[in-house]
Amino acid sequence: MNVELKDIYKTFGAVRANVAINLTIPAGTIQGILGENGAGKSTLMKILSGFFRADKGQILLEGQPVIIQSPADAIKHGIGMLHQDPLDFPPMRVIDDFILGRKGNLPMGQAEAVQDFKKLAEQFSFSLDPETYVDSLTVGERQQLEILRLIWLGARVLIFDEPTTGISAAQKEKLFAALRLLASQGKAVLFVSHKLEDVEGLCSSVAVLRQGVLVGEAKPPYVTKQLVEMMFGKAISVGARNPCGVEKEIVSLSKLSVEDYRLKVRDVSLTVHCGEVIGLAGMEGSGQGLFLRAVGGMTRTVGGKILIDGRDLTGRSYQTFKAHDVAFLPAARLEEGLVPGLNLTEHFILAEEPKGFFINWEKGRLLAQRRISEFNVRGTPANTVESLSGGNQQRALLALLREQLDLLLLEHPTRGLDIESTIYIWSKLKLRCKQGMSIFFVSSDLEEILQYSDRVMVFFSGKVTPPIEAATLTTEKLGELIGGKGWPTKPGEQVSESTSGKGA
Ligand SMILES: Nc1ncnc2c1ncn2[C@@H]1O[C@H](COP(=O)(O)OP(=O)(O)O)[C@@H](O)[C@H]1O
Ligand SMILES: [Mg+2]
Repeated sequence: MNVELKDIYKTFGAVRANVAINLTIPAGTIQGILGENGAGKSTLMKILSGFFRADKGQILLEGQPVIIQSPADAIKHGIGMLHQDPLDFPPMRVIDDFILGRKGNLPMGQAEAVQDFKKLAEQFSFSLDPETYVDSLTVGERQQLEILRLIWLGARVLIFDEPTTGISAAQKEKLFAALRLLASQGKAVLFVSHKLEDVEGLCSSVAVLRQGVLVGEAKPPYVTKQLVEMMFGKAISVGARNPCGVEKEIVSLSKLSVEDYRLKVRDVSLTVHCGEVIGLAGMEGSGQGLFLRAVGGMTRTVGGKILIDGRDLTGRSYQTFKAHDVAFLPAARLEEGLVPGLNLTEHFILAEEPKGFFINWEKGRLLAQRRISEFNVRGTPANTVESLSGGNQQRALLALLREQLDLLLLEHPTRGLDIESTIYIWSKLKLRCKQGMSIFFVSSDLEEILQYSDRVMVFFSGKVTPPIEAATLTTEKLGELIGGKGWPTKPGEQVSESTSGKGA
Protein backbone atom coordinates (compact mmCIF):
# COMPACT_ATOMS: atom_id res chain seq x y z
CA MET A 1 0.00 0.00 0.00
CA ASN A 2 1.33 3.44 -0.94
CA VAL A 3 1.46 5.89 1.94
CA GLU A 4 1.66 9.64 1.68
CA LEU A 5 2.14 12.13 4.50
CA LYS A 6 1.28 15.67 3.49
CA ASP A 7 2.27 18.82 5.35
CA ILE A 8 2.09 17.24 8.82
CA TYR A 9 2.39 19.51 11.85
CA LYS A 10 2.39 18.61 15.54
CA THR A 11 3.35 20.66 18.58
CA PHE A 12 3.49 19.76 22.26
CA GLY A 13 3.27 23.03 24.17
CA ALA A 14 6.30 24.96 22.96
CA VAL A 15 7.94 21.93 21.31
CA ARG A 16 7.54 21.73 17.54
CA ALA A 17 7.77 17.96 17.16
CA ASN A 18 6.75 17.84 13.47
CA VAL A 19 6.87 20.78 11.08
CA ALA A 20 5.50 20.68 7.52
CA ILE A 21 6.51 17.08 6.87
CA ASN A 22 5.98 15.64 3.40
CA LEU A 23 6.92 12.05 2.72
CA THR A 24 5.85 9.33 0.30
CA ILE A 25 6.45 5.64 1.00
CA PRO A 26 5.75 3.36 -1.99
CA ALA A 27 4.47 -0.16 -1.40
CA GLY A 28 7.20 -2.79 -1.44
CA THR A 29 9.92 -0.59 0.04
CA ILE A 30 11.62 -0.17 3.39
CA GLN A 31 11.64 3.51 4.27
CA GLY A 32 14.19 4.55 6.90
CA ILE A 33 13.30 7.37 9.26
CA LEU A 34 16.58 8.59 10.72
CA GLY A 35 17.23 11.26 13.32
CA GLU A 36 18.75 12.10 16.67
CA ASN A 37 16.85 11.54 19.91
CA GLY A 38 14.02 14.05 20.03
CA ALA A 39 14.02 14.69 16.27
CA GLY A 40 10.30 13.88 16.01
CA LYS A 41 10.42 10.38 14.52
CA SER A 42 8.10 8.65 16.99
CA THR A 43 5.65 11.53 16.87
CA LEU A 44 5.33 11.26 13.10
CA MET A 45 4.86 7.49 13.29
CA LYS A 46 2.27 7.82 16.06
CA ILE A 47 0.33 10.21 13.87
CA LEU A 48 0.34 7.69 11.05
CA SER A 49 -0.74 4.89 13.39
CA GLY A 50 -3.54 6.79 15.12
CA PHE A 51 -1.98 7.40 18.55
CA PHE A 52 -1.79 11.15 17.95
CA ARG A 53 -3.84 13.46 15.78
CA ALA A 54 -1.78 15.87 13.68
CA ASP A 55 -2.47 19.57 14.29
CA LYS A 56 -2.59 19.97 10.55
CA GLY A 57 -1.93 17.88 7.45
CA GLN A 58 -3.20 14.85 5.60
CA ILE A 59 -2.58 11.13 5.33
CA LEU A 60 -3.25 9.45 1.98
CA LEU A 61 -3.43 5.69 1.39
CA GLU A 62 -3.31 4.61 -2.26
CA GLY A 63 -3.89 8.26 -3.10
CA GLN A 64 -7.06 8.54 -1.01
CA PRO A 65 -7.19 10.87 2.01
CA VAL A 66 -8.08 9.00 5.21
CA ILE A 67 -8.87 10.12 8.72
CA ILE A 68 -7.25 8.02 11.38
CA GLN A 69 -8.76 8.62 14.81
CA SER A 70 -7.26 5.79 16.84
CA PRO A 71 -4.91 2.81 16.63
CA ALA A 72 -7.95 0.59 16.05
CA ASP A 73 -8.90 2.86 13.18
CA ALA A 74 -5.36 2.61 11.80
CA ILE A 75 -5.38 -1.18 11.77
CA LYS A 76 -8.73 -1.11 9.97
CA HIS A 77 -6.92 0.89 7.31
CA GLY A 78 -4.10 -1.66 7.33
CA ILE A 79 -1.58 0.31 9.37
CA GLY A 80 0.16 -1.34 12.34
CA MET A 81 2.94 -0.12 14.57
CA LEU A 82 5.49 -1.78 16.84
CA HIS A 83 6.30 0.67 19.56
CA GLN A 84 9.62 1.85 20.86
CA ASP A 85 8.58 1.34 24.47
CA PRO A 86 6.46 -1.80 24.17
CA LEU A 87 3.26 -1.62 26.10
CA ASP A 88 2.98 -4.03 28.99
CA PHE A 89 1.98 -7.51 27.98
CA PRO A 90 -0.65 -9.10 30.21
CA PRO A 91 0.15 -12.58 31.53
CA MET A 92 -1.42 -14.60 28.74
CA ARG A 93 -0.45 -17.28 26.28
CA VAL A 94 1.15 -16.35 22.99
CA ILE A 95 -1.85 -17.65 21.06
CA ASP A 96 -4.31 -15.62 23.17
CA ASP A 97 -2.31 -12.48 22.53
CA PHE A 98 -2.23 -13.34 18.84
CA ILE A 99 -6.01 -13.45 18.53
CA LEU A 100 -6.66 -10.60 20.98
CA GLY A 101 -7.33 -7.97 18.31
CA ARG A 102 -9.94 -10.19 16.69
CA LYS A 103 -11.80 -11.31 19.84
CA GLY A 104 -15.54 -11.05 19.32
CA ASN A 105 -15.38 -11.47 15.58
CA LEU A 106 -13.11 -14.47 15.29
CA PRO A 107 -14.44 -16.08 12.13
CA MET A 108 -13.00 -19.46 13.07
CA GLY A 109 -12.21 -21.74 15.96
CA GLN A 110 -9.05 -21.47 18.02
CA ALA A 111 -7.60 -24.54 16.31
CA GLU A 112 -7.65 -22.71 12.98
CA ALA A 113 -6.10 -19.63 14.58
CA VAL A 114 -3.28 -21.83 15.88
CA GLN A 115 -2.85 -23.21 12.35
CA ASP A 116 -2.60 -19.69 10.94
CA PHE A 117 -0.17 -18.72 13.64
CA LYS A 118 2.10 -21.65 12.91
CA LYS A 119 1.99 -21.04 9.17
CA LEU A 120 2.89 -17.38 9.55
CA ALA A 121 5.63 -18.10 12.08
CA GLU A 122 7.15 -20.62 9.71
CA GLN A 123 7.03 -18.19 6.82
CA PHE A 124 9.13 -15.73 8.84
CA SER A 125 11.35 -18.41 10.45
CA PHE A 126 10.21 -17.36 13.93
CA SER A 127 10.29 -20.18 16.44
CA LEU A 128 7.52 -19.22 18.84
CA ASP A 129 5.51 -21.72 20.83
CA PRO A 130 1.83 -20.64 20.83
CA GLU A 131 1.32 -22.24 24.26
CA THR A 132 4.04 -20.38 26.21
CA TYR A 133 3.28 -17.29 28.21
CA VAL A 134 4.05 -13.89 26.76
CA ASP A 135 5.83 -12.63 29.86
CA SER A 136 8.46 -15.35 29.46
CA LEU A 137 9.43 -14.09 25.98
CA THR A 138 12.48 -11.97 25.24
CA VAL A 139 12.09 -8.50 23.73
CA GLY A 140 12.98 -9.94 20.34
CA GLU A 141 10.38 -12.70 20.62
CA ARG A 142 7.66 -10.26 21.67
CA GLN A 143 8.52 -8.30 18.55
CA GLN A 144 8.14 -11.41 16.46
CA LEU A 145 4.76 -12.13 18.02
CA GLU A 146 3.67 -8.55 17.39
CA ILE A 147 4.70 -8.75 13.73
CA LEU A 148 2.68 -11.94 13.23
CA ARG A 149 -0.31 -10.46 15.04
CA LEU A 150 -0.33 -7.27 12.95
CA ILE A 151 -0.01 -9.20 9.69
CA TRP A 152 -2.80 -11.54 10.71
CA LEU A 153 -4.92 -8.45 11.42
CA GLY A 154 -4.31 -7.42 7.84
CA ALA A 155 -1.56 -4.79 8.19
CA ARG A 156 -0.13 -3.69 4.86
CA VAL A 157 1.84 -0.80 6.32
CA LEU A 158 4.15 -1.77 9.18
CA ILE A 159 5.95 0.72 11.37
CA PHE A 160 8.94 -0.32 13.47
CA ASP A 161 10.07 2.27 16.01
CA GLU A 162 13.70 1.69 17.07
CA PRO A 163 13.21 -2.09 16.89
CA THR A 164 16.88 -3.02 17.27
CA THR A 165 17.18 -1.66 20.80
CA GLY A 166 17.41 -4.43 23.36
CA ILE A 167 17.51 -7.42 21.02
CA SER A 168 20.37 -9.81 20.30
CA ALA A 169 22.44 -9.75 17.12
CA ALA A 170 20.84 -13.01 16.00
CA GLN A 171 17.36 -11.63 16.61
CA LYS A 172 18.30 -8.52 14.66
CA GLU A 173 19.27 -10.66 11.68
CA LYS A 174 15.92 -12.43 11.87
CA LEU A 175 14.10 -9.13 12.19
CA PHE A 176 15.85 -7.67 9.15
CA ALA A 177 15.09 -10.79 7.13
CA ALA A 178 11.43 -10.45 8.17
CA LEU A 179 11.33 -6.78 7.12
CA ARG A 180 12.83 -7.64 3.73
CA LEU A 181 10.26 -10.38 3.30
CA LEU A 182 7.45 -7.98 4.17
CA ALA A 183 8.68 -5.49 1.58
CA SER A 184 9.00 -8.23 -1.04
CA GLN A 185 5.35 -9.10 -0.37
CA GLY A 186 4.42 -5.55 -1.37
CA LYS A 187 3.96 -4.10 2.10
CA ALA A 188 5.21 -0.64 3.00
CA VAL A 189 7.71 -0.87 5.84
CA LEU A 190 8.77 2.12 7.92
CA PHE A 191 11.95 1.59 9.91
CA VAL A 192 12.67 4.23 12.55
CA SER A 193 16.16 4.43 13.98
CA HIS A 194 18.92 6.68 15.18
CA LYS A 195 21.48 4.05 14.17
CA LEU A 196 23.17 4.76 10.85
CA GLU A 197 24.49 1.25 10.44
CA ASP A 198 21.06 -0.34 10.71
CA VAL A 199 19.44 2.15 8.39
CA GLU A 200 22.20 1.89 5.80
CA GLY A 201 22.09 -1.89 5.83
CA LEU A 202 18.36 -2.22 5.43
CA CYS A 203 16.51 0.68 3.87
CA SER A 204 15.66 1.36 0.24
CA SER A 205 15.37 5.04 1.04
CA VAL A 206 16.06 7.22 4.08
CA ALA A 207 14.36 10.38 5.32
CA VAL A 208 16.24 12.38 7.92
CA LEU A 209 14.46 14.40 10.60
CA ARG A 210 16.11 17.10 12.63
CA GLN A 211 14.28 19.15 15.25
CA GLY A 212 10.92 18.24 13.81
CA VAL A 213 11.85 19.09 10.23
CA LEU A 214 12.44 16.67 7.36
CA VAL A 215 15.86 17.94 6.32
CA GLY A 216 16.62 15.54 3.51
CA GLU A 217 16.22 12.18 1.83
CA ALA A 218 18.82 9.78 0.50
CA LYS A 219 19.02 6.56 -1.48
CA PRO A 220 21.73 3.89 -1.66
CA PRO A 221 24.64 3.91 -1.95
CA TYR A 222 24.56 5.93 1.26
CA VAL A 223 27.31 8.35 2.14
CA THR A 224 27.60 8.15 5.92
CA LYS A 225 29.15 11.58 6.22
CA GLN A 226 26.22 13.11 4.38
CA LEU A 227 23.67 11.37 6.61
CA VAL A 228 25.55 12.51 9.69
CA GLU A 229 25.51 16.08 8.42
CA MET A 230 21.79 15.90 7.87
CA MET A 231 21.20 14.42 11.33
CA PHE A 232 23.29 16.91 13.24
CA GLY A 233 23.50 19.93 10.98
CA LYS A 234 26.50 21.23 9.11
CA ALA A 235 27.37 23.58 11.96
CA ILE A 236 28.78 20.61 13.83
CA SER A 237 32.06 19.83 12.16
CA VAL A 238 33.57 17.59 14.75
CA GLY A 239 36.74 16.77 12.88
CA ALA A 240 37.81 20.39 12.74
CA ARG A 241 40.85 21.27 14.75
CA ASN A 242 39.94 24.53 16.34
CA PRO A 243 42.21 25.75 19.06
CA CYS A 244 40.60 28.78 20.60
CA GLY A 245 42.70 31.24 18.63
CA VAL A 246 44.55 32.63 21.66
CA GLU A 247 48.14 31.56 22.28
CA LYS A 248 47.66 30.75 25.93
CA GLU A 249 49.48 27.91 27.65
CA ILE A 250 47.12 25.77 29.69
CA VAL A 251 49.37 22.88 30.63
CA SER A 252 53.10 22.80 30.87
CA LEU A 253 54.86 19.59 31.85
CA SER A 254 58.60 19.47 32.33
CA LYS A 255 60.36 16.16 32.76
CA LEU A 256 57.31 14.69 34.42
CA SER A 257 57.85 11.18 35.80
CA VAL A 258 55.26 8.90 37.27
CA GLU A 259 55.25 5.25 38.20
CA ASP A 260 53.24 2.46 39.72
CA TYR A 261 54.27 -1.02 40.80
CA ARG A 262 54.54 -2.17 37.17
CA LEU A 263 55.40 0.79 35.02
CA LYS A 264 57.67 3.79 34.92
CA VAL A 265 56.83 6.71 32.66
CA ARG A 266 59.86 8.98 32.49
CA ASP A 267 60.64 12.61 31.69
CA VAL A 268 57.65 13.74 29.71
CA SER A 269 57.85 17.36 28.61
CA LEU A 270 54.97 19.00 26.86
CA THR A 271 53.21 22.31 26.46
CA VAL A 272 49.52 22.38 25.62
CA HIS A 273 47.75 25.50 24.40
CA CYS A 274 44.15 26.40 25.03
CA GLY A 275 41.70 24.56 22.81
CA GLU A 276 44.12 21.74 22.03
CA VAL A 277 43.17 18.07 22.17
CA ILE A 278 45.89 15.56 23.08
CA GLY A 279 45.10 11.91 22.37
CA LEU A 280 46.87 9.28 24.46
CA ALA A 281 47.11 6.00 22.59
CA GLY A 282 48.39 2.59 23.59
CA MET A 283 47.37 -0.89 24.60
CA GLU A 284 45.45 -0.91 27.86
CA GLY A 285 47.92 -0.54 30.73
CA SER A 286 50.87 0.87 28.73
CA GLY A 287 51.17 3.95 30.91
CA GLN A 288 48.67 6.30 29.30
CA GLY A 289 46.10 5.92 32.09
CA LEU A 290 48.77 6.50 34.71
CA PHE A 291 49.98 9.59 32.88
CA LEU A 292 46.44 10.97 32.48
CA ARG A 293 45.75 10.60 36.19
CA ALA A 294 49.07 12.24 37.05
CA VAL A 295 48.16 15.29 34.98
CA GLY A 296 45.02 15.65 37.13
CA GLY A 297 46.69 15.16 40.51
CA MET A 298 45.17 11.73 41.05
CA THR A 299 48.48 9.89 40.96
CA ARG A 300 51.59 11.18 42.70
CA THR A 301 54.42 12.15 40.43
CA VAL A 302 57.97 11.10 41.23
CA GLY A 303 59.77 13.83 39.33
CA GLY A 304 59.32 16.92 37.21
CA LYS A 305 56.77 19.72 37.29
CA ILE A 306 53.13 20.31 36.34
CA LEU A 307 51.99 23.85 35.63
CA ILE A 308 48.31 24.51 35.02
CA ASP A 309 47.56 27.93 33.62
CA GLY A 310 50.95 29.06 34.86
CA ARG A 311 50.54 27.81 38.44
CA ASP A 312 52.79 25.09 39.80
CA LEU A 313 50.52 22.32 41.06
CA THR A 314 53.18 19.61 41.30
CA GLY A 315 52.36 17.16 44.07
CA ARG A 316 48.97 18.67 44.84
CA SER A 317 45.74 16.69 45.19
CA TYR A 318 42.91 16.32 42.68
CA GLN A 319 40.88 18.70 44.89
CA THR A 320 43.48 21.40 44.23
CA PHE A 321 43.55 20.66 40.51
CA LYS A 322 39.75 20.89 40.51
CA ALA A 323 39.92 24.26 42.21
CA HIS A 324 42.14 25.31 39.31
CA ASP A 325 39.54 24.34 36.72
CA VAL A 326 40.68 20.82 35.89
CA ALA A 327 38.11 18.01 35.67
CA PHE A 328 38.37 14.26 35.18
CA LEU A 329 35.73 12.01 33.63
CA PRO A 330 36.44 8.33 34.31
CA ALA A 331 35.69 5.45 31.99
CA ALA A 332 33.61 3.72 34.64
CA ARG A 333 30.66 6.03 34.41
CA LEU A 334 28.49 4.38 37.04
CA GLU A 335 31.28 3.36 39.42
CA GLU A 336 33.23 6.61 39.55
CA GLY A 337 31.37 9.33 37.65
CA LEU A 338 27.74 9.08 38.61
CA VAL A 339 26.01 8.00 41.79
CA PRO A 340 23.59 5.11 41.24
CA GLY A 341 20.33 5.62 43.09
CA LEU A 342 20.44 9.39 42.75
CA ASN A 343 18.36 11.07 40.09
CA LEU A 344 19.50 13.78 37.69
CA THR A 345 18.25 16.67 39.83
CA GLU A 346 20.24 15.32 42.78
CA HIS A 347 23.33 15.08 40.59
CA PHE A 348 23.05 18.69 39.50
CA ILE A 349 22.63 19.79 43.10
CA LEU A 350 25.74 17.80 44.07
CA ALA A 351 27.75 19.16 41.14
CA GLU A 352 26.99 22.81 41.92
CA GLU A 353 29.02 24.52 44.63
CA PRO A 354 26.90 24.44 47.79
CA LYS A 355 25.77 28.00 48.43
CA GLY A 356 24.30 27.99 51.91
CA PHE A 357 22.83 25.44 54.22
CA PHE A 358 19.55 24.60 52.53
CA ILE A 359 19.22 22.59 49.37
CA ASN A 360 17.38 24.50 46.70
CA TRP A 361 15.46 21.65 45.08
CA GLU A 362 13.48 23.83 42.75
CA LYS A 363 16.65 25.45 41.42
CA GLY A 364 18.26 22.02 41.03
CA ARG A 365 15.28 20.69 39.15
CA LEU A 366 15.21 23.67 36.79
CA LEU A 367 18.93 23.41 36.16
CA ALA A 368 18.59 19.68 35.48
CA GLN A 369 15.72 20.37 33.08
CA ARG A 370 17.67 23.02 31.19
CA ARG A 371 20.84 20.94 30.85
CA ILE A 372 18.91 17.79 29.94
CA SER A 373 17.43 19.53 26.96
CA GLU A 374 20.67 21.33 26.09
CA PHE A 375 22.59 18.04 26.03
CA ASN A 376 19.73 16.06 24.60
CA VAL A 377 19.75 13.56 27.44
CA ARG A 378 16.91 11.13 27.01
CA GLY A 379 15.40 11.22 30.49
CA THR A 380 13.72 13.47 33.02
CA PRO A 381 15.13 15.20 36.15
CA ALA A 382 13.49 12.45 38.23
CA ASN A 383 15.22 9.58 36.39
CA THR A 384 17.94 7.77 38.34
CA VAL A 385 21.22 7.67 36.44
CA GLU A 386 21.33 3.89 36.19
CA SER A 387 18.02 3.93 34.31
CA LEU A 388 19.69 5.87 31.46
CA SER A 389 21.40 4.19 28.50
CA GLY A 390 25.21 4.39 28.22
CA GLY A 391 25.07 7.22 25.71
CA ASN A 392 22.70 9.16 27.88
CA GLN A 393 24.83 8.59 30.98
CA GLN A 394 27.80 10.04 29.11
CA ARG A 395 25.72 13.02 27.97
CA ALA A 396 24.60 13.51 31.57
CA LEU A 397 28.24 13.51 32.73
CA LEU A 398 29.07 16.18 30.17
CA ALA A 399 26.03 18.18 31.17
CA LEU A 400 27.27 18.04 34.77
CA LEU A 401 30.64 19.64 33.95
CA ARG A 402 31.15 23.12 35.30
CA GLU A 403 30.96 25.94 32.77
CA GLN A 404 34.42 27.26 33.65
CA LEU A 405 37.05 24.63 32.82
CA ASP A 406 40.62 24.91 31.55
CA LEU A 407 41.47 21.25 31.24
CA LEU A 408 39.35 18.14 30.85
CA LEU A 409 40.83 14.67 31.30
CA LEU A 410 38.84 11.87 29.72
CA GLU A 411 39.16 8.11 29.82
CA HIS A 412 37.52 6.33 26.89
CA PRO A 413 34.96 9.10 26.38
CA THR A 414 32.86 7.14 23.90
CA ARG A 415 33.57 3.50 24.67
CA GLY A 416 30.48 1.34 24.12
CA LEU A 417 28.52 4.16 22.50
CA ASP A 418 27.02 4.13 19.02
CA ILE A 419 28.40 6.38 16.31
CA GLU A 420 25.68 9.00 16.73
CA SER A 421 26.30 9.40 20.46
CA THR A 422 30.03 9.53 19.75
CA ILE A 423 29.64 12.31 17.23
CA TYR A 424 27.29 14.19 19.52
CA ILE A 425 29.65 13.98 22.48
CA TRP A 426 32.67 15.10 20.46
CA SER A 427 30.71 17.96 18.97
CA LYS A 428 30.00 19.20 22.50
CA LEU A 429 33.64 18.68 23.53
CA LYS A 430 34.98 20.53 20.49
CA LEU A 431 32.63 23.38 21.26
CA ARG A 432 34.19 23.67 24.71
CA CYS A 433 37.64 23.63 23.07
CA LYS A 434 36.63 26.55 20.92
CA GLN A 435 35.83 28.39 24.12
CA GLY A 436 39.34 27.67 25.37
CA MET A 437 39.27 24.35 27.17
CA SER A 438 42.03 21.79 26.49
CA ILE A 439 41.57 18.04 26.53
CA PHE A 440 43.71 15.00 27.26
CA PHE A 441 41.97 11.75 26.43
CA VAL A 442 42.80 8.08 26.56
CA SER A 443 41.21 5.84 23.96
CA SER A 444 41.83 2.43 22.49
CA ASP A 445 39.90 3.39 19.37
CA LEU A 446 42.49 4.40 16.77
CA GLU A 447 39.94 6.18 14.61
CA GLU A 448 38.81 8.26 17.57
CA ILE A 449 42.40 9.17 18.42
CA LEU A 450 43.17 10.24 14.85
CA GLN A 451 39.93 12.04 14.21
CA TYR A 452 39.64 14.16 17.32
CA SER A 453 43.22 14.78 18.49
CA ASP A 454 45.39 17.70 17.49
CA ARG A 455 48.44 15.83 18.72
CA VAL A 456 48.91 12.22 19.77
CA MET A 457 51.24 10.60 22.27
CA VAL A 458 51.72 6.86 21.99
CA PHE A 459 52.55 4.72 25.02
CA PHE A 460 54.24 1.34 24.93
CA SER A 461 55.13 -0.37 28.22
CA GLY A 462 55.94 2.93 29.86
CA LYS A 463 57.77 4.46 26.90
CA VAL A 464 56.21 7.57 25.37
CA THR A 465 56.59 9.18 21.98
CA PRO A 466 56.89 12.93 21.80
CA PRO A 467 53.59 14.49 20.75
CA ILE A 468 52.94 13.77 17.07
CA GLU A 469 50.75 15.97 14.88
CA ALA A 470 47.65 13.86 14.28
CA ALA A 471 47.41 15.11 10.70
CA THR A 472 50.70 13.39 9.86
CA LEU A 473 49.68 10.02 11.32
CA THR A 474 47.89 7.13 9.69
CA THR A 475 45.97 4.32 11.35
CA GLU A 476 48.71 1.96 10.18
CA LYS A 477 51.56 3.97 11.65
CA LEU A 478 49.65 4.47 14.90
CA GLY A 479 48.84 0.77 15.09
CA GLU A 480 52.51 -0.11 14.66
CA LEU A 481 53.63 2.22 17.42
CA ILE A 482 50.95 0.89 19.77
CA GLY A 483 52.18 -2.61 19.05
CA GLY A 484 55.79 -1.64 19.83
CA LYS A 485 57.08 -1.35 16.24
CA GLY A 486 58.96 1.62 14.81
CA TRP A 487 60.27 2.91 18.13
CA PRO A 488 63.75 4.45 18.27
CA THR A 489 66.41 2.03 19.43
CA LYS A 490 69.05 4.63 20.26
CA PRO A 491 68.48 7.55 22.63
CA GLY A 492 67.83 10.80 20.81
CA GLU A 493 66.56 9.06 17.68
CA GLN A 494 63.24 10.32 16.32
CA VAL A 495 60.13 8.12 16.40
CA SER A 496 59.13 9.35 12.99
CA GLU A 497 59.85 12.36 10.83
CA SER A 498 56.65 13.94 12.12
CA THR A 499 57.33 14.30 15.85
CA SER A 500 57.92 18.03 15.85
CA GLY A 501 54.67 19.05 17.55
CA LYS A 502 54.61 22.67 18.54
CA GLY A 503 55.90 23.32 22.02
CA ALA A 504 57.04 19.73 22.46
N1 LIG B 1 3.49 13.06 24.49
C1 LIG B 1 4.35 14.08 24.45
N2 LIG B 1 4.17 15.16 25.23
C2 LIG B 1 5.03 16.21 25.19
N3 LIG B 1 6.13 16.25 24.41
C3 LIG B 1 6.36 15.21 23.62
C4 LIG B 1 5.51 14.06 23.60
N4 LIG B 1 6.00 13.17 22.71
C5 LIG B 1 7.12 13.72 22.20
N5 LIG B 1 7.34 14.95 22.73
C6 LIG B 1 8.44 15.85 22.39
O1 LIG B 1 8.49 15.98 20.99
C7 LIG B 1 9.83 15.96 20.51
C8 LIG B 1 10.01 14.84 19.53
O2 LIG B 1 9.91 13.61 20.23
P1 LIG B 1 9.90 12.19 19.52
O3 LIG B 1 8.94 12.23 18.40
O4 LIG B 1 9.69 11.18 20.58
O5 LIG B 1 11.38 12.12 18.97
P2 LIG B 1 12.25 10.86 18.47
O6 LIG B 1 11.33 9.69 18.36
O7 LIG B 1 12.82 11.30 17.17
O8 LIG B 1 13.31 10.66 19.51
C9 LIG B 1 10.71 15.85 21.75
O9 LIG B 1 11.14 17.13 22.11
C10 LIG B 1 9.79 15.26 22.78
O10 LIG B 1 10.18 15.66 24.08
MG1 LIG C 1 11.41 7.89 19.33
